[in-house]
Formats: sequence, structure tokens, C-alpha cells
Amino acid sequence: VTAQNDSFEVRASAPGKIIILGEHFVVHGSQAVAAAINKRATVSVKGTTNRSRVRVGRTLSELDQVDGQFVAVKSVANETLRFLNAADRPIDIEVESELPPGSGLGSSAAVSVATAAAILRFFGESASESKVSSLARYGEGSVHGNPSGIDVATCLYGGTIMFSKAQGQKTIVPSKDIRFIVAFSKIPRNTSALIDRVSKHRRTYPVLFENLSRSISMVSTLGGRAIEEGDLRTLGTLLNVCQVALAWIGASSSEIEKLIEEMLSAGHCYGAKLTGAGGGGSVIALPEYSETLKIISEISKEYPYTLLTGISEEGLKFHE
Ligand code: MEV
Repeated sequence: VTAQNDSFEVRASAPGKIIILGEHFVVHGSQAVAAAINKRATVSVKGTTNRSRVRVGRTLSELDQVDGQFVAVKSVANETLRFLNAADRPIDIEVESELPPGSGLGSSAAVSVATAAAILRFFGESASESKVSSLARYGEGSVHGNPSGIDVATCLYGGTIMFSKAQGQKTIVPSKDIRFIVAFSKIPRNTSALIDRVSKHRRTYPVLFENLSRSISMVSTLGGRAIEEGDLRTLGTLLNVCQVALAWIGASSSEIEKLIEEMLSAGHCYGAKLTGAGGGGSVIALPEYSETLKIISEISKEYPYTLLTGISEEGLKFHE
């Protein structure tokens, strides 16, 4: 671990994500498809003579204080410092995020990836993908007990990926620009509660769940192909199939169903579904190109965090 001068600062950023197909089922072994979006979280690290602190907006909290604040950042930062044998080297960590917390758009994964990378680099250690990924997963683990790793992989690598726990990630290369409308339902998702609910469902209906998981793996494989071929019609149908499966395992809610209904009636969409853990969180829709603005202006009247996003090819990045 090398010493740094006072003004030395490292900034790293990582994108948020949407799960296009296969969330929850991916925790139990299925294939899933995810993409990085054009909204990012940025983390800056610099040395201090005080105690180590985390700042998010105007809120400050000491790194070793267990106060329920900034849980993901703190657990990743503490784990990274332990790994570096630098727990006695105080740092200031500042987080700026364009991703609303609880929106299901990967805010905790993006912040976790950027935190691990910025601290490693600050202490002169290489921020290799495997190191960042294993440290960032402490953040995910602290927020939701049993993560598949898909969120961290998407925020770290960027682009569009096919992911399974057994095989890790494989890049999907879209043949044309695919844009999704994303709308936050205003109800924060609670990932660990939702993962528990789904696991309970799996125990109650093991055979049905197993078969549905296999079908969702197939839906993800077909979805990956549709993205590569630019076949929006097929991709939209697969989004709808996935939504039905997610509703059956208990990941939807009446508010989510209402938002999906509103998206589909505001203009022509090929398909729509919840994205991420569900319960609340966000909905994605695949609009027919010419209908996009009409749908966004209609939906944003009631849901202020509504946006059009392309896929961000850029994963983890350092800023000079
Ligand atoms: C959350 O973005 C996706 C889930 O499948 C959880 C996970 O895979 O870790 C619900």
C-alpha cells in the first residue's frame, strides 16, 4: 500500500442496470439477460486526517458507524480496506448517483463497483475485474442476502449480457440500437424480502417452479437472440411472458401491474415488465419508436422518474 499526497483523489463511476429477462429465476440457476443504462453512480476517494467518512449529498456518516446508513458503500469500503491492510488509513468517500435508491435500477451494485474500484486504485492496487467483482459483491450481500451476481456483473462490464450463476456473463451484441422506457413506480423495492417470498414459493411448488425456471432460461436465450437480430416484436413478447411468470412467483404487485397497464395503453409497446426485484421498483417497456415521446409524456405526469434509455457500452470507468 503506497502513501498518497493530500490532494490525490480517485474518481470511479459505474452504470445502473436493467434486468431485461429472468430476474429472480437467475437466483435459482436460470439464464437471465441484463443491460447497463445511461445513468451512473460516481464515487470519489481521497485521504483525510480525520476519521474515515462517507458522504452522500449533504449526509455524512463515519465509516465504522453501524447506523443503517449507506450499508452497501460501507460494507464494500470496509472489506476493501481490510483486503488492502489499510483499515488504519483514513479516507473520505463521496458518492454521487443519478440512480434513485430503491428503484431497482442497480444503484447499490453501481455504487458498490465504483467504491471497490476507487479505493483499490487510491491505494495503488490494480482494480482488476475479478477483484472489483468479488469486493463489490459484499455490498450486494449486505443489501440482499442471496444475490446471483448479475447486478454487479452488469454494472462492472457494461453493455448487454447473458448471465447465469454457473456460467457467469457472456456479451450480447445488439444489431441495432434498442431503447427502453423506464419508469420508477415510486415504491422502493425490497430485494431481500422479495427473494425470500420467491424462495418460499419455490418450496411450495417445487415441480412447477423447476419447469418454469427452465422455460425462463429458454425465454432468456431467445431474448438474447432477438436482441442480436434486432427483432423487437419477439423481444416484446418475451418481456410479457416473463412478466406473467414473475407475477406467478409473487414478484409483482397491484401498483406494478397498474403501471404496466398504463404504459401499454399510453401508446404502442411491444411489451412491458417489472425489472429487478419487483414488489415496487421500476417497469421497463419496449416502445414502438414513433410512439416513444407520447408514452413518456403521458407516464411522466404521474411518475416523475420516467426516462428513455439506450444500452450503455461503458461499464466501470475511472475519471482523471
Ligand atoms: C435484482 O436486480 C435481480 C434479482 O434477480 C436478484 C439477484 O439476481 O441478485 C431479483
